[in-house]
Amino acid sequence: MSPSANHPESGDRERAGRTPFPARGASAAAVMAELFERKTADADWQRGRTFNLVYPTGRADVDRVLTEANNAYLFENALNPTRFPSLGTMQAEVLEMVSSLVNAPSRAGAGFTAGGTESILMSVLVSRERGRVERGITQPNIVFPSSAHPAFAKAAYYLGLEARSTSLNDGFTADVDDLFEHVDANTVLIVGSAYGFPHGVIDPIEELSSRALERGVPFHSDTCIGSFVLPFMERLGYEIPPFDFRLPGVTQMSCDIHKYGYVTKGASVIVYRDAEWLTHQVFDYDVWPPGRYRNASVAGARAASPVAASWALLRYLGEDGYTEIMRGLLETTRRLREGVCALPGLAILGDSIGPLMSFTSTRDDIFSIADVMDERGWHLNRVHNPSGVQMMIAPIHGAHVEEFLADLAGAVEHHGTARSTMVGYT
Ligand SMILES: Cc1ncc(COP(=O)(O)O)c(C=O)c1O
Repeated sequence: MSPSANHPESGDRERAGRTPFPARGASAAAVMAELFERKTADADWQRGRTFNLVYPTGRADVDRVLTEANNAYLFENALNPTRFPSLGTMQAEVLEMVSSLVNAPSRAGAGFTAGGTESILMSVLVSRERGRVERGITQPNIVFPSSAHPAFAKAAYYLGLEARSTSLNDGFTADVDDLFEHVDANTVLIVGSAYGFPHGVIDPIEELSSRALERGVPFHSDTCIGSFVLPFMERLGYEIPPFDFRLPGVTQMSCDIHKYGYVTKGASVIVYRDAEWLTHQVFDYDVWPPGRYRNASVAGARAASPVAASWALLRYLGEDGYTEIMRGLLETTRRLREGVCALPGLAILGDSIGPLMSFTSTRDDIFSIADVMDERGWHLNRVHNPSGVQMMIAPIHGAHVEEFLADLAGAVEHHGTARSTMVGYT
């Protein structure tokens, strides 16, 4: 048999500069030493240097709970909770806890997913199927403001829907009129974000969802960020615009536990107002020799540790624990905002009310300032139209505010021309 393009001989792979499969094993000590050596080149999130991707609390007790819960379920498989009933129970409890956090009604149903993108993929799938079954739609589209996470466009791509991106108003929130001009008889889902990632602002969820309800179209409130921020800000007495199932037009919500829920990666929940709709998310196949194959996630074999870590941390922190973390986080955010605004030319973009913000410069090229910050080991996100820097602030940043602001002040005064305008997600 001759090697195919996908299965080149190892000699070919070596010549192409690829890593050959190791002929002999190495000692665990040598392998781990190399692993940790390589890791030194990564973003230093433990010193508060990253402003998304990782959401550290900076608390040893929280990290211990997460590590122990993850380790306890490292080898199990969440595919089949009949073999691991503890996983089935913990998952059901996590779904109920998160649903209650976002005020889901008693008839609601929810699914555990690997992250915001999978939650959104499921929401779009369910909406496509509801559109087909309930309204006879065969050419479905979804409509979202351009600030919505790319996961919606990705879901449309995967699932064969048309994606319609609409404009923002001056404050970077959805232009409601423009959005509804793009809605037609084939629209199966309308989207708003609380928060939107680019500027950390909240779309007018109340207006969007009530107009969606009038049109008879499902409405997804994307609270991948906000679900573990806004409820605790409310408990601290902040006036928060409505964003959850208390609004009758909100039909589904994505809630990431692995962002401001502080759980290690692989944990999100998609909640539907009506548990009946969940049936569209379930793949049920009963003509396979080993028996019926039925589950509600993209993956078959599925990591068990995110379920265990979510259950453990929600139980460990509880409402009071999360609220206290939020109190500190908002104080850190206040110090950072004030520090940023005190620097010449820097200005916040939009009206962000939680631990996220974007800022620009009215005096300098903001990307050249961001480049200097990169050189100093900080990892800031870029936004465009207008150019800005975006930050998702985590509890760990509380210990690094002064250091960050000192470096930012230096970067504002001494910078060259911009080299990198986009630090994307490729
Ligand atoms: C508002 C929003 N929705 C969805 C997502 C996608 O989440 P994930 O990266 O967990 O797939 C993100 C990620 O940052 C987000 O900010």
